[in-house]
Amino acid sequence: MTELLSFLQTICEKPHWESEWIDLLSQLEYVGCRKILKGVPFERMDLNLLQHVSEEASHAYLLKKAAGPEIAERSWREGKFADLGWNYFRCLDEQTSRLPEEKQDCYPIVSWAIERRVMEVYPAYLKITRNEELRRALAAILEQEKRHGAQFEGWNLPTEVKDRAILIERGLWREFVEGLKARVDPAPLS
Ligand SMILES: [Fe+2]
Ligand SMILES: [Fe+2]
Repeated sequence: MTELLSFLQTICEKPHWESEWIDLLSQLEYVGCRKILKGVPFERMDLNLLQHVSEEASHAYLLKKAAGPEIAERSWREGKFADLGWNYFRCLDEQTSRLPEEKQDCYPIVSWAIERRVMEVYPAYLKITRNEELRRALAAILEQEKRHGAQFEGWNLPTEVKDRAILIERGLWREFVEGLKARVDPAPLS
């Protein structure tokens, strides 16, 4: 957490980098939304899942909008952190999807691991940022994320699978934050 806090403090002092970070959060919300759409078969889609998909899409929208007009028009491919975000999500998806025996648990386990991380990162970021539009967006998003987290807690995923997913996510998150920090503050060439 300390690593993340020092990264957040650094980017909140540099509006250009903070916009890149907000755009990255938007990208991750979008990829999370797409994961639900790809991971849930047509016949299993229900009202709850549709609500979850629509809320994740709205999180991506609110964050992209809060990233500022220049970035809002830009493709995520041009994001300065985009590749790090892809890598984190892709590895998490691949590695945690191997854990459950039941195929239908693959989408919940990835989402559960991410929702836990979101509930750590967004409140910490909300305390630090001075970007007003973003503060409003984050407060609205957090209300919905709390409900998503509670839904997954009630999903009855096996404890052993959850413990292993936490370890995987923690390792990938550490690498992700190190990558973000190195990009904002590269080590001087010797
Ligand atoms: Fe979200
Ligand atoms: Fe969520």
